[in-house]
Amino acid sequence: MTRWTRKDLLGLEELSREELLLILDQAKAFQQVSLRSIKKVPALRGKTVALCFLEPSTRTRTSFELAAKRLSADILQIQPSSSSLVKGETVLDTARAIEAMQVEIVVIRHSTSGVPAMVARAIRSSVINAGDGSHEHPTQGLVDLFTILEKKGRIEGLNVLIVGDILHSRVARSNLWGLTRLGAKVTVCGPPTLIPTGIESFGAKVSYRLEEPLGAADVLIALRLQMERQQEKYIPSSREYTRLYGIDREKLKGAKPDLILMHPGPVNRGVELSPEVADGPQSVILEQVTNGIAVRMAVLYLVAGAHSGSADSPVDAAVHPEPFESPQGKRSLT
Ligand code: CP
Repeated sequence: MTRWTRKDLLGLEELSREELLLILDQAKAFQQVSLRSIKKVPALRGKTVALCFLEPSTRTRTSFELAAKRLSADILQIQPSSSSLVKGETVLDTARAIEAMQVEIVVIRHSTSGVPAMVARAIRSSVINAGDGSHEHPTQGLVDLFTILEKKGRIEGLNVLIVGDILHSRVARSNLWGLTRLGAKVTVCGPPTLIPTGIESFGAKVSYRLEEPLGAADVLIALRLQMERQQEKYIPSSREYTRLYGIDREKLKGAKPDLILMHPGPVNRGVELSPEVADGPQSVILEQVTNGIAVRMAVLYLVAGAHSGSADSPVDAAVHPEPFESPQGKRSLT
């Protein structure tokens, strides 16, 4: 049986298939906690989790906070505007100050790729990457794997199409590592200027046209056009982008009827998704948000165990994993 031994979760690139499945199994167990009238287990009682979001976030920050609370951890919020970062303190000095207060886990989002890894090397506390620049967003990648398993019962052999601003997307990179490691066939699609050169080495096919890969897809992941990363210079206009790559009801007529539509959020309504498909029957966008809590509970729980040297110690019986079941009732994680 695989044991979790990592102090940190910095990306999906370094995780084995077995480690990915361990997190997903643990998330499946924690999913039950949020369905109870008392949404709490004592797994992280006495531990402290610091949330350092140095870039805006709604879903990731709030679901990490809820996940930590549901595990009975104490929470420390580091707000960039009201911390000594505004006085010029470095991220490393901030992290060392947090470590000095015996905080076990530091969750970091930062606009620069590599900051969580740099902090993880400098402090003994566990570090979880909540999104760094255009590098990785590992917990979003895990949320997407979990949601696909919930909806499709497997990942192996599925055709997954990722459409949009691949160049700037940390979600796309985490999706690619996680999906290919679990056996999905991944195609990325978008304007040539928004597809990084050499993306094929991640194990993905590339298409600059939407129609053909959309017709074959079981899962469609639409990505946000990242206005704040100055994408405007990469495409003639957002209207042109929407005409070619925006997903609407008309384009979905060419897709499989059981295709599921995903988006990590936040959505630019009317740009990458029309409102009627974002809210339509194939959309699982809000289920992704819900699943974020169980997945982040699993990640917090596993790194806390590795931090205290008891990653394989039995969990409270209330949180033991129930393995995924395929629609045929047979255990089938991929
Ligand atoms: N998916 C995601 O990272 O959303 P937030 O920016 O709202 O956290």
